[in-house]
Amino acid sequence: MKVLVTGGAGYVGSTCTAVLVEAGHDVTVVDNLTTGSREAVVDGAKFVEADAGEAADELLANGNFDGVIHFAARSLVGESEQVPDEYWRDNLGTSLQLLEAMRRHNCNNLVFSSTAATYGEPTKVPITEDAPTNPTNAYGATKLAIDYAIASYCRGYKLGATSLRYFNVAGAYGTIGENRRIETHLIPLVLQVALGHRDKIMIFGDDWPTPDGTCIRDYIHIRDLADAHLLALASNTPGKHRIFNLGSGDGYSVNEVIAACRKHTGHPIPAEVAPRRAGDPAVLVASSEKIQEELGWNPTRTDLDTIVQDAWAFTSQLGDRAYSAGKR
Ligand code: UFG
Repeated sequence: MKVLVTGGAGYVGSTCTAVLVEAGHDVTVVDNLTTGSREAVVDGAKFVEADAGEAADELLANGNFDGVIHFAARSLVGESEQVPDEYWRDNLGTSLQLLEAMRRHNCNNLVFSSTAATYGEPTKVPITEDAPTNPTNAYGATKLAIDYAIASYCRGYKLGATSLRYFNVAGAYGTIGENRRIETHLIPLVLQVALGHRDKIMIFGDDWPTPDGTCIRDYIHIRDLADAHLLALASNTPGKHRIFNLGSGDGYSVNEVIAACRKHTGHPIPAEVAPRRAGDPAVLVASSEKIQEELGWNPTRTDLDTIVQDAWAFTSQLGDRAYSAGKR
């Protein structure tokens, strides 16, 4: 297939691009490199440095694409509450431009990178796709609004689309992993301590209603996540909008994550308890049965050890290329 990948220079987008290229697809990445990095895009993919929304019309007019995977977005929960205008513009605005370009140029196959943040505080765990959607931050709200837009384009213009709601994506795939200019995610931050780029990890609360008092999350391996995008792309049907959760179905606490990182890095990783972080739910665990049943998705790297091991294999070889080294 000829596939356009927006935001294909970011962590998730570049991994999916690599897997698409390996599977023999003809891939073009469009990314403005505000958070992504050019070197994360595998050699076999074409690269266009541009804003995905602004470039969509021209790319789709001339590219003859069979499908689009749309990752380009801002994705920091805390930041989204501080500068919501930027999130509405960059997430919803860009997506509307892309949807219009797809409609105009008859490209009717879309996979959309969505998030568990669309659900907000869960009313029951594990979270299924029919759970209420009450996002507690602007990031989740923008992604939910895009889902509504996609659903109406599916009904009105026979778009075929799948929204994939990710839980906590982690791990690495070969030379692609988490190396952000601004890092807020637990596993990469803990590994920065092991690298010596940070003194300690702060645990955001140890008085949560969980067995060890720290928050529980569902960590999904980036390679398993990538597979789901290929399955979705291959099975979209015009006029239909599907929504699937993507998690591994197991919850691990912050303390368990830190312990796994100590085991795999051999570093003591000092930790200190800090106040709770605003907006954090105590437990977020996905039910991903729907995508397993309907698309045959079969995650194989679901244990925390594999996720941490792969993340460390990537992080430990970064050297000066790690943004946390402060030299780039
Ligand atoms: N945490 C710490 N210390 C840190 C960083 C994180 O204790 O320095 C804790 C958080 O409080 C949370 C857990 O580790 O309990 C995981 O936090 P992350 O920031 O790694 O991930 P989140 O669960 O906050 O966010 C993830 C995705 C978001 C998505 C959200 C869905 O990264 O994009 O899940 O709720 F929106």
